[in-house]
Amino acid sequence: MAFGGVVRLCVGADFVKLQMAIFIHHLISSYRWTVVKEGDIIRKPGLVFPNGLHVRITKKQELY
Ligand code: HEM
Repeated sequence: MAFGGVVRLCVGADFVKLQMAIFIHHLISSYRWTVVKEGDIIRKPGLVFPNGLHVRITKKQELY
């Protein structure tokens, strides 16, 4: 329960979800992700990487 909710709910929850969506959008669309070292992936049901997942993130070339 990242934002609470049993008795009280975080009033910034929707704001933060929008901020995270914008952040992830830029991280995926403006940067190239290269896997450096793979590891196990466990789905239970969220994704867990017990040995980590090493990636190199580099800025893509600007097209304009
Ligand atoms: C990742 C970011 C955030 C997380 C994980 C988070 C999480 C939480 C949690 C767990 C609570 C307590 C709920 C409870 O008492 O049961 C809370 C309360 C609160 N949060 Fe956040 N929060 C985040 C960001 C924000 C932001 C950006 C704002 C404001 C712009 C904000 C404003 C508040 C306020 C005012 C409360 C108190 C609500 C109340 O007492 O009724 N939070 N938050």
